[in-house]
Amino acid sequence: MKSFKQIISKVKLLVLFIILYGLGLGVKAQTIIIPVETAKNALVLQVGSNRDLNAIYFGEKLLNSAEYSQIPGTFKQTEDYTSLLNSAYTPSGSRNLMEPAITVTHADGNNSLDLRYVSHQIKKVDDDVSLLSILLKDPVYNFEVTLFYKSYFKEDVIEQWTEIRHKEKGNVVLHKYASANLYVKAGSYWLNQYHGDWAKEMQPEESQLTHGIKTLDTKLGTRANLFQPSVFMISLNQPASEDEGSVLYGAMEWSGNFRIDLEVDYQDNLRIIAGMNNYASPYTLKPNETFSTPAFLYTFSDKGKGEASRKLQSWARNYRLLDGKGTRLTLLNNWESTYFDFNENKLAELLKDTKKLGVDLFLLDDGWFGNKYPRNDDRAGLGDWQENKSKLPNGISSLVKEAQSNGVKFGIWIEPEMVNSKSELYEKHPDWVIKQPLREEHYFRNQLVLDLSNPKVQDFVYGIVDKLFMDNPNLAYIKWDCNAVIYNAYSAHLNNQSHFYIDYVKGLYKVLERIRSKYPKVPMMLCSGGGGRVDYAALKYFTEFWPSDNTDPLERIFIQWEYSYFYPAISSSNHVTDWGKQPIKFRTDVAMMGKLGFDIVVSKLNGNDLKFCQDAIQTYDVMKPVIWQGDQYRLANPREGSVASVLYLNAEKSSGVIFNYLVNNRYGEGSKRPILLKGLDAAQKYKLKEVNLYPGVNSTIDDSRIYTGDFLMKVGFNPDVNAGRTSVVLQLDELR
Ligand code: GLA
Repeated sequence: MKSFKQIISKVKLLVLFIILYGLGLGVKAQTIIIPVETAKNALVLQVGSNRDLNAIYFGEKLLNSAEYSQIPGTFKQTEDYTSLLNSAYTPSGSRNLMEPAITVTHADGNNSLDLRYVSHQIKKVDDDVSLLSILLKDPVYNFEVTLFYKSYFKEDVIEQWTEIRHKEKGNVVLHKYASANLYVKAGSYWLNQYHGDWAKEMQPEESQLTHGIKTLDTKLGTRANLFQPSVFMISLNQPASEDEGSVLYGAMEWSGNFRIDLEVDYQDNLRIIAGMNNYASPYTLKPNETFSTPAFLYTFSDKGKGEASRKLQSWARNYRLLDGKGTRLTLLNNWESTYFDFNENKLAELLKDTKKLGVDLFLLDDGWFGNKYPRNDDRAGLGDWQENKSKLPNGISSLVKEAQSNGVKFGIWIEPEMVNSKSELYEKHPDWVIKQPLREEHYFRNQLVLDLSNPKVQDFVYGIVDKLFMDNPNLAYIKWDCNAVIYNAYSAHLNNQSHFYIDYVKGLYKVLERIRSKYPKVPMMLCSGGGGRVDYAALKYFTEFWPSDNTDPLERIFIQWEYSYFYPAISSSNHVTDWGKQPIKFRTDVAMMGKLGFDIVVSKLNGNDLKFCQDAIQTYDVMKPVIWQGDQYRLANPREGSVASVLYLNAEKSSGVIFNYLVNNRYGEGSKRPILLKGLDAAQKYKLKEVNLYPGVNSTIDDSRIYTGDFLMKVGFNPDVNAGRTSVVLQLDELR
């Protein structure tokens, strides 16, 4: 149902168009204002007298949209000599003096481009979603760009991308082809960016942007986010906190090389130009062919990072993450308990353990395949997806059946885009492997990447998954791994090597499209030796991702905290393992904050530890709807104090769960002061009860007390976290 406010704002918009656009009848172009409004925000574009398309506003929307046209006059900054500083899609080689969004060489060798407004249209997809498209054309060359703005009203999210085409007499070369070109005005800009490496994902860094260009990019080709993910935040005027300040979140929806230029111009405004990385990738475009860029995704909040993240999480569950509103399977994985060393007998025991533990599924990890070159370590076998005859003489299908007779489901690990040079696949199809013909091979985790720009390789990769499901219709889960970057980028298939990085990722998406059209819902984990690959283009095909191989729970509190700004808890696969020195309760509590799994030797758990895990899985069953679908409020930041605390609250504000941890082991540290709750109904009465207690341990929390939401949000609640109670899970319920 459309809210009254929504209808009113749409009506206002229409009136504005009627007045300003004059139904397209002879009104001068300078009067065209195109606001892209969502529930709270507006991005406003204006067509200038010379038909340049410029951005004139980005921020909280105005009550009266007729006032947008007055915004430019309120700024007295230095002169814009080009009228392109705030271009909605900055061309290069003509008037522009700044970083362009697009650079081309025309069929005749000319490098200049100008883009002028021709027309626009708004399509209402449904009550929440609208799609604005704006056509721009070069006045001299038969070259055009269409800008797309897909806005999600309730979620305050916009996805922006472009389509580029031409009708020149010959090919055009695209040297830069951004997805979006934003323009923001503020007193100062604070960039919160991330870097990382294996087991150290999502390390945040915040700094003030200075004049000039700061570029966030990657050139790894695949698992492209390993050192630098494409997600970032920009706070305006001062660093935003959890609940205060204006902050923009940006993310590239692209699983390959990306490039985000953040340019503070000489007028002190910020230009954000985001897209695929043009590094080593000039793209040749034939006449009448369409070049589509991936989308750049953003949201904005004037109420701090917390609100921005809740909007993005809710957008992801509603629109992007595969089965975002659905359910997930808890599981037992064998990677850390066996590594490559297993056989049918060992697996039979693990299947029994899966049942004993009480999780839904057993996940068989790496090591089950390869015969001429058995996969007994990570140096051989990748590419040869046939069951290893000595480890699994009766094949996967017997394991799937065995799982069923134990009352659990069965899932399997694959890394289908990769190959070891010691493999039959490599011997048979050396031309399917990405490597330079005349250069020495260089390996990442002893392996190479298959050339997904080649349709034959796409068929092969699709075939691996298809065969697994065809042979085993009851196979219930896939862990799709991707552990190498691309060195020596070269495709034996492509004539134009400059297309390689882009066509590789497009090839990957083609495979995933095919898999999803045949197997639409089967859960798949996006893994990349950690989070080296997660982005919102990939999550269209995956139900969850693996944030990090680092499962030390103390580290995980920090890693999961940062991921949670951008991705919902339901998408975060968190496993209890033997990393870290914390007790099983601490490890399990941390893993429960997303999609719970285990990767431990169940048979080695002592009686109480096993009992704790079994009970925790049942507690999780009760709590998972609010963890997966609730609103997430970060209450205490582990980087700012000795305690971390996160609340998940249902939409009705009637029940929730709070996870609290000690993150500093120095003497006397703990929750000295109460922690302020957020998001509650002030007038409502609530009770708090400690759950997930270790067998034989009594809670220090008096759960008979009643508090108003007002009290809990102004005075707070003390979970009594200390050296003896390092991990405390509280269930919050309204009093009926
Ligand atoms: C990657 C994954 C691990 C495991 C191994 C198997 O490192 O992140 O979880 O599956 O590969 O080789």
